[in-house]
Amino acid sequence: MNAPTKPEEFAPKIPDGVFAETVLSVEHYTDHLFRFRMTRPAGYRFRSGEFAMIGLMVGDKPIYRAYSIASPSWDEELEFFSIKVPDGPLTSHLQKIKPGDTVLMRKKPTGTLVLDALTPGKRLYMFSTGTGIAPFASLIRDPETYEKFEEVILTHTCREVAELKYGFDLVEEIKNHEFLSEIVGDKLKLYSTVTREDYPFQGRITDLIDNGKLFADLGVPGLDPAVDRGMICGSAAMLKDTKERLERAGLTEGANNKPSEFVIERAFVG
Ligand code: A2P
Repeated sequence: MNAPTKPEEFAPKIPDGVFAETVLSVEHYTDHLFRFRMTRPAGYRFRSGEFAMIGLMVGDKPIYRAYSIASPSWDEELEFFSIKVPDGPLTSHLQKIKPGDTVLMRKKPTGTLVLDALTPGKRLYMFSTGTGIAPFASLIRDPETYEKFEEVILTHTCREVAELKYGFDLVEEIKNHEFLSEIVGDKLKLYSTVTREDYPFQGRITDLIDNGKLFADLGVPGLDPAVDRGMICGSAAMLKDTKERLERAGLTEGANNKPSEFVIERAFVG
């Protein structure tokens, strides 16, 4: 029997044609949520809001899932925000990564939650639930968002307060960032609500649109296709129900090849 003798013979083989990147940091928020940052391949280009296929070697097979890139396009590193599913084919392994580990990434990013898919407007709403905040974590840190819109409203709804922390951290980071703080100024508003715990701001975003509380709390008029643009990222049911509200307000859905007043993307879960 030929037992492997050199350490590299134990290492899983990296498939051809994908990037193999190094994990730089990992932060666990709750039992169900974590974020990690990894190296960015030289020459890797993407538009803020797009997603990539991220994977790990599990045994001798790579497993990939779609993940929104949470870092902005100018960042030297790549950031991802993930759920942990106990028997998720990828996340059950991904949740255990540590700095120095290897994460695979397919070469081509894609997605519809990009500024190019929207026609010009004044106010940009980003509606998210759970890890659906990830593409917006990218867009709210991109100066182009603030060149194109006078006001940016990010809504984040989770079941519990602890799940909102990633969003709060993002806003803090922007405030303390040397050049972003100036560019963003007071244009960005984060509106965070929970549905299954006591908190000053409660309720599903769909209900808060219906009863007008979202607009009253923010001090803005109701949705208006003349000035408002939207992006939606969450579960399939949340996408459908939020899209319905925007359409009822007269906004029409756009795409990369046909920019319009709002765009949607599924939240990518493990
Ligand atoms: P709720 O607690 O009332 O179900 P999930 O983890 O199930 O994706 O939920 C994340 C958040 O999105 C929860 O606060 C949940 O509220 C909310 N949510 C779930 N379904 C919808 C929907 N169809 N429209 C709006 N919000 C939703």
